[in-house]
Amino acid sequence: MMTRRDFVKSAALLAAAPSAARSPEILIQRTVRPVVISDYSGWEFTNGGTENAVSRAFRLITEGKDVLDALVAGVNIPENDPLETGIGYGALPNADGVVQLDASCMHGPKKRAGAVACIEGVRTPSLVARAVMENTDHHLLAGQGATAFARAMGFKIEDDLNTPNSRRLWLEWKRRVDPEHYLDPKRNGRGRSRTAPAVLREDPGYDAGRSMVRDGLIREGSFWGTINCDGIGPNGNICGVTTTSGLAWKIPGRTGDSPILGAGLYVDNEVGAAGSTGRGEANLYNLSSFLVVESMRRGMSPKDAGMEALKRIKANTIEKRLLNSKGNPTFNVRFFVLNKRGEYAGLAMYHSGEAKYAVCTENGAQTLELEPLLAGTPED
Ligand code: GLY
Repeated sequence: MMTRRDFVKSAALLAAAPSAARSPEILIQRTVRPVVISDYSGWEFTNGGTENAVSRAFRLITEGKDVLDALVAGVNIPENDPLETGIGYGALPNADGVVQLDASCMHGPKKRAGAVACIEGVRTPSLVARAVMENTDHHLLAGQGATAFARAMGFKIEDDLNTPNSRRLWLEWKRRVDPEHYLDPKRNGRGRSRTAPAVLREDPGYDAGRSMVRDGLIREGSFWGTINCDGIGPNGNICGVTTTSGLAWKIPGRTGDSPILGAGLYVDNEVGAAGSTGRGEANLYNLSSFLVVESMRRGMSPKDAGMEALKRIKANTIEKRLLNSKGNPTFNVRFFVLNKRGEYAGLAMYHSGEAKYAVCTENGAQTLELEPLLAGTPED
């Protein structure tokens, strides 16, 4: 959709062009239909308002706002929403019960980027990532340094980003992994719930977390909870942002793919954007978002480029503990991909759990089915 400002700009260029170049086609070729794409949390959460992330970002882009500013304003919705338990405020904490957040952003036309890892006390790490991009010579600040930077930049630092719900779920997780020490008063002092795994395998923390997903206590999307949101504006400017609390109950300091450029997000303004949700370790190992964008650079469509990255992840997943009975990965990974022409795709290792993604175009916001590489589920 061409905004009035774009039309005026294009018309001025046209007026200055030689008469032979003065055809209406020039106007059409100069513009792209804006698109915003994200995982399902960009559709699901409104923080008590009327707009979700993709709708807000699309509206702001078409009102002429900078594409990255619009996307960040979009993801601020789930970041601030206490009902969303995988992103920002109220997200599932680490193993110590502390909410540690990761975020990154990339500005295609400016070729700039910023990120924070393991930041504590700020509900909107995407805004701190953008502040790193705008105010420093660096791309990534981590841990206490990231929090100190946010404080210095005027962000409100809170003692605790848990909500009663995220703290209640952390306590339940502690009871499942450490039933001798964390007792449940409601179960006569017994720590282990009726449905918790009787025999924990080699990773009791992870198994207890998955058992909470199976028991319906945690949404599957919140276990690796993340929002990636990418957009293209009418001038073909592409930006992206990814923000998350990372893996639920993670080892303190564990950093996933979301704040790592090329892993959980990559943008090249001449090619396109890709971002991801799901098991971050898979994207760290394979630098998957970079791989997707490089595949598009070589001519692949967004769908084929995303599939290429999923195939790479599958091929590089050979550890037995990460393989199910079919020899396929025990985890899901999803990609949200956009190219320079405004074409897009949503891909997943499996069409299971969170099986849709969100798109907003001039036709409004909608959800579409993710296209899977593999049949079945990670649990097969
Ligand atoms: N993809 C989010 C994470 O693994 O931290």
